[in-house]
Amino acid sequence: MLPSLSSGKMGPAAASSIRSLLYRLLLLYSSLLIAPASSQGDESRQANNKHVAIFVFGDSVYDPGNNNYLYIGIEGKANFTPYGESFFKYPTGRFCDGRTVPDFAAIYSNLPLWEPYLQPGSHNFSNGANFASGGAGVLEESNPNTLYSQKQLKYFKEVANLLKQQLGDAVAKKILADAIYLSSFGGVDYMSFINSTSNPTELQQQEYVNMVIGNFTDVIKEIYETGGRKFAFQNVGPLGCQPELKQQYNLSGGACVEVLQAIASLHNSLLSNVTTELQSQLSGFEYVIFDFFNSLNDMINYPTKYGFNVSEIACCGIGSHRGSGCGRVKEYELCSDPNEYVFFDGGHPSEHADSILSDFLWNGGSDYTWPLSMKQLYKLNSTTVIEILSEDKLLFTM
Ligand SMILES: *[C@@H]1O[C@H](CO)[C@@H](O)[C@H](O)[C@H]1NC(C)=O
Ligand SMILES: *[C@@H]1O[C@H](CO)[C@@H](O)[C@H](O)[C@H]1NC(C)=O
Ligand SMILES: *[C@@H]1O[C@H](CO)[C@@H](O)[C@H](O)[C@H]1NC(C)=O
Ligand SMILES: *[C@@H]1O[C@H](CO)[C@@H](O)[C@H](O)[C@H]1NC(C)=O
Ligand SMILES: *[C@@H]1O[C@H](CO)[C@@H](O)[C@H](O)[C@H]1NC(C)=O
Ligand SMILES: *[C@@H]1O[C@H](CO)[C@@H](O)[C@H](O)[C@H]1NC(C)=O
Ligand SMILES: *[C@@H]1O[C@H](CO)[C@@H](O)[C@H](O)[C@H]1NC(C)=O
Repeated sequence: MLPSLSSGKMGPAAASSIRSLLYRLLLLYSSLLIAPASSQGDESRQANNKHVAIFVFGDSVYDPGNNNYLYIGIEGKANFTPYGESFFKYPTGRFCDGRTVPDFAAIYSNLPLWEPYLQPGSHNFSNGANFASGGAGVLEESNPNTLYSQKQLKYFKEVANLLKQQLGDAVAKKILADAIYLSSFGGVDYMSFINSTSNPTELQQQEYVNMVIGNFTDVIKEIYETGGRKFAFQNVGPLGCQPELKQQYNLSGGACVEVLQAIASLHNSLLSNVTTELQSQLSGFEYVIFDFFNSLNDMINYPTKYGFNVSEIACCGIGSHRGSGCGRVKEYELCSDPNEYVFFDGGHPSEHADSILSDFLWNGGSDYTWPLSMKQLYKLNSTTVIEILSEDKLLFTM
């Protein structure tokens, strides 16, 4: 039997040469497993041959229809017309007229569009899974009826165990280490906070943000413990400038709900700081932050720059900004072309906006994605696969 890499008896040089041998073995092993096709393709072909799963966590902007399967009221669902009208031609449960950011990320990664994790029937979890749920917060108390972050984490751990049962530990661990963990969390926590604390002091805001980020950090660490290494975080959007909130607060023109803008910015600043810290604490931790706040804000402020006509008012809904009620009340209004609108309903970007946002996320090359683009994260080989495998002496079963 080969000694474990962590054995104290081996010198560093020997350990590193065994390590590199094991690494080459693993590359060979994984290329046999995953890329049986020709290795002669050009660079883009190679990227396409790679198989990287995506596990999606988050709230309504990422939900592919999980809420269809929850016992919650109509205000927490989007499985009725006109949702889905631009692309799917039927309401899937997505809070959008078409595809969302995780759908475009799946397209870029050569994966199928998302089915809800809760949808009955069989799923191929080698491609990942989407646990996102409209109205879900990091904190359970923000909306206990949804798949809040700890519930999504619990489901993810069940999927990880299932993969290990079905494919064996070594293959499952490689899938988990190479996968991208794409998430969108926090917006619901802050909207619910503002509903219950209408004029929070700066100290209250800071304490609340610390609590949300503290709990989110726990979730990230548990995903890491389960074998995740590559994370893509969509930060909290410009909540106070959504038509829904402008309408709720009776604002007009370019005015936004400033307290929500401030608390979202505070969250985003702390998220940036915490991810930098995590990278120094957790070996092999890699990440992307996608600046949803500033990219969507720019679309709202300069709609024509992106090919939109309207950003203050949603395509679908009722009220001064069509901020609520899309498909939910009989008298709702619907625009003739959702592509002209940044927002499809009062709280969610249109498919056209999501396609532009996804381009920022995937391709980078703007100030909106750092320190990597999702494409770079996708191409990154997890450096810790060897350590994970060797810890359990799993290589010997190969
Ligand atoms: C599941 O997806 C993987 C990766 O795309 C593929 O290799 C495998 O054949 C699929 N399994 C089934 C049962 O469809
Ligand atoms: C906040 O209150 C508004 C108005 O009552 C309500 O429509 C909205 O759902 C609430 N938001 C959250 C996240 O609780
Ligand atoms: C997580 O949230 C709870 C409230 O739900 C809070 O009591 C706890 O301190 C938070 N944890 C962290 C690490 O911030
Ligand atoms: C907005 O206007 C409505 C109707 O005038 C009023 O009931 C509501 O309290 C106002 N909301 C805020 C946040 O000022
Ligand atoms: C994040 O770090 C920067 C630089 O150290 C600091 O100025 C900022 O206050 C931090 N943000 C938060 C929310 O703590
Ligand atoms: C939307 O903008 C485009 C290009 O700027 C223009 O051709 C079109 O007429 C506008 N549509 C409406 C309804 O104003
Ligand atoms: C990742 O590994 C593959 C072989 O499995 C190799 O072709 C590719 O260049 C590696 N990518 C990076 C960024 O190291």
